Amino acid sequence: MNGAVEAMDARPGVVFPSARPRSMLSAMKPIHLSQHRCVVFFTGAGLSAESGVPTYRGAGGIWSQYRYQDYACQRAFDRDPQAVLEFHELRRASVLECASHAGHAALAAMQATHAGVRVVTQNIDGMLQRAGARVDAELHGSMWRVRCARHGLRDDFARGPYATRRCADCGAWLRPDITWFEDAVDEAVFARAGELIANCDLFVAVGTSAVVYPAASFLPLARSAGAMMVEINPESTEASDLFDHRYAMPASEALTRVFQT
Ligand code: APR
Repeated sequence: MNGAVEAMDARPGVVFPSARPRSMLSAMKPIHLSQHRCVVFFTGAGLSAESGVPTYRGAGGIWSQYRYQDYACQRAFDRDPQAVLEFHELRRASVLECASHAGHAALAAMQATHAGVRVVTQNIDGMLQRAGARVDAELHGSMWRVRCARHGLRDDFARGPYATRRCADCGAWLRPDITWFEDAVDEAVFARAGELIANCDLFVAVGTSAVVYPAASFLPLARSAGAMMVEINPESTEASDLFDHRYAMPASEALTRVFQT
């Protein structure tokens, strides 16, 4: 990370430099967590896919059905806050219909047995927290928080529609506390994540296409920190060559079968 907070954008086709031999498809090579001091699980939408939460890209992805320019950027919110809030209320309602899966629970269990297991997520759905896991950094915010430009953040766990759409202090529209495209990312959150990743010795990317920056720049950071690099994704990604071990399988399967304490 060069310190300048980059606005969030997607960069398909970025080629990651790969000094290491091509990553091995690792079938079911076990990973012993006790051999690692600081383990970072870096998660994306694919972690929640088996719970029924749609991913963003690929078949049935949210951005193949909706234009972020209409529902997930500040310009859209300034133009039509009601439409943007309705879009996110739909997302909240659909996430509440979903249950966390065995992979979420396995990650929570790993944290319970190994204090060095940390989670940095791009997800805004709160599925990991619902499974009892602790998330150290929510890089792209949360659909369960709103913010007033003047009066700051507040939680909103109302089932579906937001409890309120206007700030009680100033009446301004409350914006979902989500990092949208073209938004600057939260410097403090990224600094915390960067600190963890620069010091980890095992880095596990779960269910991310690794095309959205600046979050995706944490992958080369982990590699340059000398971490053992593990990718869990049924599909290969543009970052796959960065990894020492690839588990080409669903998150729930890999998280419950690969990691041993
Ligand atoms: N298990 C593991 N990985 C899976 C599974 C599964 N069951 N199902 C799909 N995947 C993989 C896909 O192959 C894909 O590579 O998850 C990845 C999801 O990629 P994206 O939809 O691009 O999601 P993500 O990488 O999290 O997006 C990053 O983009 O739109 C923004 O802010 C949003 O945080 C999001 C960011």
